[in-house]
Amino acid sequence: MSVSSERRDIESRADVERLVRAFYGRALKDPIIGFIFVDVARLDLEEHVPVISSFWETILLGARSYGGGAFAPHAMLNMKVRLRAGHFERWLLLWRTTVDELFAGERAELAKSHALRVARAFSGRLAAINGPAGSDPGPEAGASAGPGLVVIQPGPAPDRDAPGGERRRDQLGDRLPPL
Ligand code: HEM
Ligand code: HEM
Repeated sequence: MSVSSERRDIESRADVERLVRAFYGRALKDPIIGFIFVDVARLDLEEHVPVISSFWETILLGARSYGGGAFAPHAMLNMKVRLRAGHFERWLLLWRTTVDELFAGERAELAKSHALRVARAFSGRLAAINGPAGSDPGPEAGASAGPGLVVIQPGPAPDRDAPGGERRRDQLGDRLPPL
C-alpha cells in the first residue's frame, strides 16, 4: 500500500466532513459502540455530520461555527446507556485510526490530541455522575468515582491477545501519548 505517502493534512471543511463521515462509517458498525449511535440515540447522520464537522472545524481550522455545549448531549445519552471508560477508549481508537488512515500533519495530530482531552474530560465527568462501579451516585460519589478513562496504547500491543494475558492498558494521565 502506498496510501500513506499520499496523505496530507486537514485543510478545509470538506476535509473535516470527509474525516467525520469516515469515522461514523466505522463507529455505526462497531461491535462495541455502534449500538449506542444506532439503537439508543438513533442518530440521523445527515443532521449530525454538519454539527460535528463544525465542532472540528472550530478546533482545527479556527472557524467559529460551533457554539459549544458538547457535554450535555452525552450526559443525556448516559441516562439511557451508561457511557463507560471502555466506550470512550473504543471511540478514541476508531477516531485515531480514521484520522491516521486519511490525513497526516499538524492538524491531524491536533485532531487526535484534542479528542483525547475531550474524551478524558467527558469520561471523568460522567464517572463522577455515575459513581463507583456503576452504582447510583451517593453523597461521596464525586470523591470516589471509578478508575476513569484508560487508554489502550496505539501500535503493537504484545500482551493484548496473549493467552491468559491481560489486555495492556495504561492509566490515563500516566503514560499518555504526548499532547
Ligand atoms: C486550538 C485551540 C483550541 C480550540 C479551538 C478548542 C476548542 C474546543 C471546543 C470547541 C470544545 C468544546 C467545548 C464545548 O462543547 O463546550 C473544547 C473542549 C475541550 N477542550 Fe479545547 N480547544 C483548544 C485547545 C485546547 C487545549 C490546549 C486544551 C487543554 C490543554 C483543551 C482542552 C479541552 C477540554 C478538556 C475540553 C472538554 C471540556 C468539557 O469537559 O466539556 N482544548 N475545546
Ligand atoms: C463513547 C463515546 C461517545 C459516544 C457514544 C458519543 C455519542 C454521541 C451521540 C449519540 C451524539 C448525538 C447526541 C444528540 O444529538 O442527542 C453525540 C454528539 C456529539 N458528540 Fe459524541 N459521543 C462520544 C464521544 C465523543 C467525543 C470523545 C467527542 C469529542 C472529541 C464527541 C463530540 C460530540 C459532539 C461535538 C457532539 C454534538 C453535540 C451538539 O449537539 O452540540 N463525542 N455524541
